[in-house]
Amino acid sequence: MKHRILIIFLVAIAASFSNFSNAQDVKVKPVKSKTTPKPADKPASDLKTDVQGKPQIVPVTDLKISTWSAPAGELTFPELPYKYDQLEPVIDQLTVEIHYDRHHRAYYDNFKKAIAKSEFESMSILDIFTKIASAPVAIRNNGGGFYNHVLYWENLSAKGGGEPTGELADLIKKHFGGFNEFVEKFNDAAKSRFGSGWAWLSVDPSNGELFISSTANQDNPLMGTSERKGIPILALDVWEHAYYLKYQNKRADYISGFWKIVNWPVVEKRFKQVKINK
Ligand SMILES: [Fe+2]
Repeated sequence: MKHRILIIFLVAIAASFSNFSNAQDVKVKPVKSKTTPKPADKPASDLKTDVQGKPQIVPVTDLKISTWSAPAGELTFPELPYKYDQLEPVIDQLTVEIHYDRHHRAYYDNFKKAIAKSEFESMSILDIFTKIASAPVAIRNNGGGFYNHVLYWENLSAKGGGEPTGELADLIKKHFGGFNEFVEKFNDAAKSRFGSGWAWLSVDPSNGELFISSTANQDNPLMGTSERKGIPILALDVWEHAYYLKYQNKRADYISGFWKIVNWPVVEKRFKQVKINK
């Protein structure tokens, strides 16, 4: 009897070891998350593809003035140089997403439609701007909207702020009296633009002078219709869609925040690309 009990006991122990061993082999299936990644978690380069599945976008930080000399019909929609949330707290994630992926993309799409199969398709966007007075209004609004926003996104950075250096800093001091005076004048131009428009720092290619201006709607200083023509090196969008979600009617607060995210190395690079016709 004692032997039977002992055998049963040993069999029970062996069975429990066997179960323990099997437990080590159990493969836990990973649970797939049903959460859709937030746009800010996605690389900007994955945002869109064309009908062939190829990326429609190119890195914006590689764009040079010479890029804009390509036929307008061949221009592509540039990638944001940062994620949607990386301009926070100055510009909130949702504003950047809507502004870039809805507004800016719509300008690009509508510009392409407006120039399709017209004399403007083979012209560079810079040439189109010089002849904008004779172009249909859809080309003026959407061509400006496309181009201006590329400059705007490119001259912002999550690690921006501070002041320019080198020759640009010297010229700012010469023309405006100092950096703080320059900011004050630029802010005045941005705040006083009635309705929707832009504030600019541009170079006059005829003499190399810097000047501040503002334009209505999607116009810019390159357009033949501009009061003073120049090559823009710093752009500030003061349309309500650029700030209203976070700042509501306080445009001045958005403008003062702008200086914390200005990408001065990009502005300086643009400045160096301007050819002065002296
Ligand atoms: Fe805008």
